[in-house]
Amino acid sequence: MKLLVIGGGGREHALAWKLAQSSRVIKVFVAPGNAGTALEHGLENLPLTAIPDLVEFAKKENIALTVVGPEAPLAEGVADAFHAADLKIFAPTRQAAQLEISKDFSKAFMRRHNIPTAAHATFSDASEAHQYLDRKEAPIVIKADGLAAGKGVIVAMTSTEAHAAVDAMLVNKNMGEAGIKIVIEDFLQGEEVSFIVMVDGHQVLPLATSQDYKRLRDGDQGPNTGGMGAFSPTPFISPERHGKIMREIIHPAVNGMLHEGARYTGFLYAGLMITPDDEIKVLEFNCRLGDPETQTIMMRLKSDLFTLIEQALNGSLDNAETEWDRRVALGVVIAAHGYPETPRKNDIIQGLSNLTTHQLASDEFHVFHSGTTLGGENGDEVLTAGGRVLCVTTLGDNIKMAQRNAYQIAEQIYFDGRQMRHDIGYRGMTYTGNRAGSL
Ligand SMILES: Nc1ncnc2c1ncn2[C@@H]1O[C@H](COP(=O)(O)OP(=O)(O)O)[C@@H](O)[C@H]1O
Ligand SMILES: [Mg+2]
Repeated sequence: MKLLVIGGGGREHALAWKLAQSSRVIKVFVAPGNAGTALEHGLENLPLTAIPDLVEFAKKENIALTVVGPEAPLAEGVADAFHAADLKIFAPTRQAAQLEISKDFSKAFMRRHNIPTAAHATFSDASEAHQYLDRKEAPIVIKADGLAAGKGVIVAMTSTEAHAAVDAMLVNKNMGEAGIKIVIEDFLQGEEVSFIVMVDGHQVLPLATSQDYKRLRDGDQGPNTGGMGAFSPTPFISPERHGKIMREIIHPAVNGMLHEGARYTGFLYAGLMITPDDEIKVLEFNCRLGDPETQTIMMRLKSDLFTLIEQALNGSLDNAETEWDRRVALGVVIAAHGYPETPRKNDIIQGLSNLTTHQLASDEFHVFHSGTTLGGENGDEVLTAGGRVLCVTTLGDNIKMAQRNAYQIAEQIYFDGRQMRHDIGYRGMTYTGNRAGSL
């Protein structure tokens, strides 16, 4: 069977790579893909991004199943367009994707269904927002309502910063349409974790837990990014917390969407904060997998992903079972010069084809590509083409060993202005409670 993955980042490389391992899959098209998916066995890039073109292609090529990576196509209604053409796609409809597309919708939804989240208020009027801030204390969080490619949230440490963020969004309109409405929410302290599940409309299959690193520099310093690394599983999600998250957050969300007439199908990502007094609160929902969490999760998934998605589309996730590698997977992102503000393109990436892997077996590491393209004189050089460039992902018996393995490989890959953190995984190593095992 032939499959289609929509997107061109590291998450999509990992998804397509995993799908291609199924014995029933002969080829996975990736639209538009990157240099990594172009070079990967069993994958083929497709230079298409417009939804009508993708529908046309899926019909013509008899694509058995389409999987969507990023949020933008969800907001454009890619699932609705595929459904209208009677094509199979694993992604929420535009209506169901409101859970991610509008933070105001999402917060109000959580309130309606008693899903624990920080207290909030929504504003489109700047002076009302300022008055609200005057009654609150910093730190406080200002969020653009709409999609903002990870740039719509200001965690204001002072009240001055908070007022400035309100003006930037509501008065100067620096977020455009996405910032016409803003959500102001209470600041939560604690440990941030990622909890991703598959949903078939009713039933839920949890994937392995993970944790990502959002700041650019070591020690969680510097600006926010799309994610500079991740590891799976996280010891912070014990079996007890896992059960609680499913009961108090995931099931109420899936049932809530169903009862509100927006049946949810697809991957569902809950960004969670575990507070010092052991409350678990939702920071946000994403209607897709996370990047780079996916790279670590796919590295550990032993089950056939194609079969799991088929079961989700047939509404039979209750019969689905996942088998996970008990080892830790850890991914280190290598980013371009100038990322995140002004990533530079066209730097030549060296070292990819002659990595010395020491004791690592070929299935114990994988270099997933994000912002890369093939170019140079003969079209066979790998060039940088985006902010996050690569994610070196490895397995290890524990976080420390997975980390050592990842950096051993990452250090061999070079391009001008290369940026990476050197401490991915450290939060997991500071954990002192009971181990979570292989959740
Ligand atoms: N209420 C909050 N308290 C503390 N930090 C927060 C809060 N909300 C968001 N953050 C931080 O800001 C980041 C981005 O916020 P999020 O709601 O995930 O928006 P997006 O991913 O759309 O930018 C989070 O990953 C978290 O680190
Ligand atoms: Mg987020």
